[in-house]
Amino acid sequence: MARDKSTVSEAVIRRLPKYYRYLIEMEKNGLERISSKELSQRMGLTASQIRQDFNCFGGFGQQGYGYNISELRHEIQKILGLTGKYNVIVIGAGNLGQALANYSGFEKEGFHIRALFDINPRLIGMAIRGIDIMDIDTIEEYVKEHSVQIGAICTPKEKGQEVADRLIRCGIKGIWNFAATDLTVPNDVIVENVHLSDSLYTLSFRMSDASR
Ligand code: NAI
Repeated sequence: MARDKSTVSEAVIRRLPKYYRYLIEMEKNGLERISSKELSQRMGLTASQIRQDFNCFGGFGQQGYGYNISELRHEIQKILGLTGKYNVIVIGAGNLGQALANYSGFEKEGFHIRALFDINPRLIGMAIRGIDIMDIDTIEEYVKEHSVQIGAICTPKEKGQEVADRLIRCGIKGIWNFAATDLTVPNDVIVENVHLSDSLYTLSFRMSDASR
C-alpha cells in the first residue's frame, strides 16, 4: 500500500524525476526489464537505496525478475502527477520568461504554457512561439476564463511576492518560482523554487580543490 505522499522525504521526491528520466531513456532504447543491481549501477545509487525509495510507494519489482521498465515508468509517472495536463502562465516576459515559452519540451509531459504577462508596453501584444504576451492587468480576467494550475514567476525578485500574492488571489495553487526570493504563501499553495545558480555552485565545488 502506498504511503501518504506527505510522509515521503524530500530526498526521495528529488530522486523521482531522475528515475523517471532514466526509465524513459531505457524504454526508448527498447529495454523491457532491468535488475535492481543494473538500475542501481546506471543511476549511481545502491540497490538497497532504490528498494527503499520504491517502498515509499508500495514497492515495485519482483524478486528474481527485477523491474519491468515500462510498468515502473508508468507508476513513477503517476506518482509525479505527470499523467494529467497543466495549464501554465508565465509572469515576466523578459529573457527567462521568453526562453521558457520558447521551449516546447515541457508540453511532452503535459505542461502547456498558455500565456505570458508583463508590465512592459513594448512587450505586451507580442507573441513567443504563438503564445501571447498580455498586460499583467488582465491576468485576473484571463485566469477566470481559463483553467490555470501553475504560475511561473520570472519577474525581478523585488516583484516576486507581489506577483505570487496576485496569482494566489486568482486561485492558482502551484507556483514555479524563478525569482530569487523566498515566497510566503498559504498552506494549500505549493511553491517550487528554481535556482540554476545552485547547480553552478555545485559544479564549481566539484571542480575546486576542496572537494578532492
Ligand atoms: P528580465 O529583466 O529580462 O525580465 C523580467 C521581466 O519582468 C521584464 O520584462 C519586466 O517588464 C517584467 N516585470 C517586472 N515587474 C513585473 C510585474 N510586476 N508583473 C509582470 N511583469 C513584470 O529578467 P530575466 O533575465 O528574464 O530574469 C527574470 C527573473 O528570473 C529575475 O528575477 C532573475 O534574477 C531570475 N532568474 C532566475 C534564474 C534561476 O535559476 N532561478 C535564472 C535566470 C534568471
